[in-house]
Amino acid sequence: MSIKEALKGKVSEEDLKKVTRSFEIIGDVVLINLPDEVLHLKDLIVQAILSKHKHVKTILRKVGEVEGVYRVARYEPIYGKKTETVVKEHGCRFMVDPTKVYYSIKLSGERERIAKLVKPGERILVMFAGVGPYAIVIAKLAKPKEVIGVEINPKAVEYFRRNVELNKVRDIVKVYEGDVRDVVPKLEGKFDRILMPAPYSAEDFVYLLRDKVKIGSYIHYYTFAGEEEEDEVLPKRVKDLFRKHGMIAEIEKIKACGSFAPRVYRYVLDLRISDLI
Ligand SMILES: C[S@@+](CC[C@H](N)C(=O)[O-])C[C@H]1O[C@@H](n2cnc3c(N)ncnc32)[C@H](O)[C@@H]1O
Repeated sequence: MSIKEALKGKVSEEDLKKVTRSFEIIGDVVLINLPDEVLHLKDLIVQAILSKHKHVKTILRKVGEVEGVYRVARYEPIYGKKTETVVKEHGCRFMVDPTKVYYSIKLSGERERIAKLVKPGERILVMFAGVGPYAIVIAKLAKPKEVIGVEINPKAVEYFRRNVELNKVRDIVKVYEGDVRDVVPKLEGKFDRILMPAPYSAEDFVYLLRDKVKIGSYIHYYTFAGEEEEDEVLPKRVKDLFRKHGMIAEIEKIKACGSFAPRVYRYVLDLRISDLI
């Protein structure tokens, strides 16, 4: 039952229209959009969530959008206090605090998709690694030789390191703290696969890849785009961007993997490097 259904008959039709349809459950923490104009319905909404999801310990309302280099939204509690939690995803466990680090369960399907593409023995780089979900899901579901994750937010790095231990992947996953602009140029060797899960700014970091790929390497490039751009504008833009930085990229797949705004989506482009210039 949705929140709207639970509130039907208890609040005015006008208020009901302003109530969010969906919310995100991260372990035992719920994240919800609850605008000021329906804040007076808070207690009813808390009850509606708790009656359906008995394990929930904390409900946080979003009071500021995802922002800044660390990509963290601002929240205030409307039920409970504890914000650290453990999320289960594909048999992995991730310790996170959504008030301090980026994490979205909505991307778990995309992580599984990538893990299924990984061939045994691959060497993989996850830029913008967060608390480690891509790196760890790949290490658990596939058989890579090495997965390097780079993350700038010290709190996310702390959770990433704990999550590597929690999931017993320390022989495969290596955590590097710092700005990809400083860390990536110092990494030795080439990678079979590079992930760039920073859709708002990935284009600013493509220049880092030229020395880290070989012919046949795969890049998973994430970006926001309008749905009208999907067929022509977006593929051309990304191919041109890679060419500008000395890489000929063939697009194997373009797929929306999340929405950002009306008719604007997070897209992933699976690219295969076919030549270096
Ligand atoms: C959208 S989040 C993705 C996190 C993770 N991949 C996930 O899916 O949960 C982007 C992450 O990149 C990190 N970040 C932003 N700029 C960075 C940089 N220049 N170098 C390294 N990490 C960076 C942020 O702190 C944030 O954790």
